[in-house]
Amino acid sequence: MLSNKAAGPAKRTSLHGHWSSRMAFILAVTGSAVGLGNIWKFPYVAGQNGGGAFVLVYLACVAIIGMPVMMSEILLGRRGRRNPVATMALLGEEEGKSRNWQWVGGMGVLAGILILSYYSVIGGWTLAYVFKSGMGEFFGADATRVTTIRDGFIGSWALLGSFHTVFMGLTVYVVARGVERGLEQAVRFMVPALLLLMLALLGYSINSGHFGAGLEFMFSPDFSKLTWDSVLAAMGQAFFTLSIGMGAVMAYGAYLPEETSITGSATAVAIADTTIAILAGLVIFPLVFANGLDPADGPGLVFVTLPLAFGQMPGGVFFSTLFFILLSFAAWTSAISLMEPAVAWLVEHRNRTRAQAAVIMGLLIWTMGVGTVLSFNVLSEFKFLKGTIFDNLDHLTINIMLPLGGVLITVFAGWVLCRNSTADELGGAGTIYKLWRVLARYVAPIGILFVFLKAVGLLPDLA
Ligand code: TRP
Repeated sequence: MLSNKAAGPAKRTSLHGHWSSRMAFILAVTGSAVGLGNIWKFPYVAGQNGGGAFVLVYLACVAIIGMPVMMSEILLGRRGRRNPVATMALLGEEEGKSRNWQWVGGMGVLAGILILSYYSVIGGWTLAYVFKSGMGEFFGADATRVTTIRDGFIGSWALLGSFHTVFMGLTVYVVARGVERGLEQAVRFMVPALLLLMLALLGYSINSGHFGAGLEFMFSPDFSKLTWDSVLAAMGQAFFTLSIGMGAVMAYGAYLPEETSITGSATAVAIADTTIAILAGLVIFPLVFANGLDPADGPGLVFVTLPLAFGQMPGGVFFSTLFFILLSFAAWTSAISLMEPAVAWLVEHRNRTRAQAAVIMGLLIWTMGVGTVLSFNVLSEFKFLKGTIFDNLDHLTINIMLPLGGVLITVFAGWVLCRNSTADELGGAGTIYKLWRVLARYVAPIGILFVFLKAVGLLPDLA
């Protein structure tokens, strides 16, 4: 056993309560990780970035960068037991360094707010498709019809905005009640069910006759097509899909029981999350090719391919309704984690009740979300920097804020915290600990910065 357990941080408890078990924690983080990122975002970003090589880089990023960042977040959260801002201030001080590390937590809170503002719009879109599927709108529809339905839906700011409102309301509701009640149960059912349905869809996709083309698109890497921009996109996607880089996992880690293995939990989450993303790709791309669609179609891709597949399937109305319900659940359990750091912060620093904090944040985020709602219709031609308002938010958060947060979090855990503190949380100074430390101190921060600087053109080509 390592020193000072009784005296120091180990005795700290969280104001917001604790997970009832290790399983509850794994489920909550899995619920956070598995979401629109896996099924909505992964296929279209992979599609826009040429497929195979992107997928390989993404997998490498999950393993080499994602894992150490996730472990760092959990250990920091558990050690500080506060919201990310307060946790980083406290630990910085405790290690005899600066409280200014709290600004990293602050940037995370902000990133969560920005991400949720558009995440909620897409979450609402998913919700709308529960009803569209249930009413049989996609039954027997061909590609043109499904595309028309989609464009009609997002073309209406009122419709898109209404579902954004409902989705935000649901998120506020759960966060207001506290994370322990409800969430745990939802995830316990949702992740396995989603996995089963993806497998069923995979069966359909295999029979579409274009499975080979889909496989090839996803797994035969053509590195000549890989630009630094797409490497950055792959890295950003790894952050986004694992929910890391902004303190969501840190906030969840604050409620983690003392004895739970951090490495084991992080590994379980990464495997579940990656499996679902790969399955989504294996389902989507064969359908894209079978129906003559464009893999680089963008954010609307799964809202065409999946309804198409379901529309042709026996029992399709039932299965597509079920699928969009599950996807809405997945989005919901992710949205909660995007909001948790901001709400925990309001509760701890502004003396708000949880319910008040959730409503205040909800209103703020909802308002910001209107920008994204409009970028699909009224303001779709209003473009600057990276494109529409949505495109810019997406780029700023995923490709800039999350990686930057990742660098700072790993530097904090690897350099600012002393060996004893981190070894204490990671279960002693064994091989896995040493590996984590090398990754957190050197590989992850340097790797992230390198990719980032390359993509913005600040590093010259050597060759
Ligand atoms: N990981 C979720 C998804 O794939 C989204 C998400 C939830 C997230 N919490 C996060 C992304 C925190 C970044 C940071 O859909």
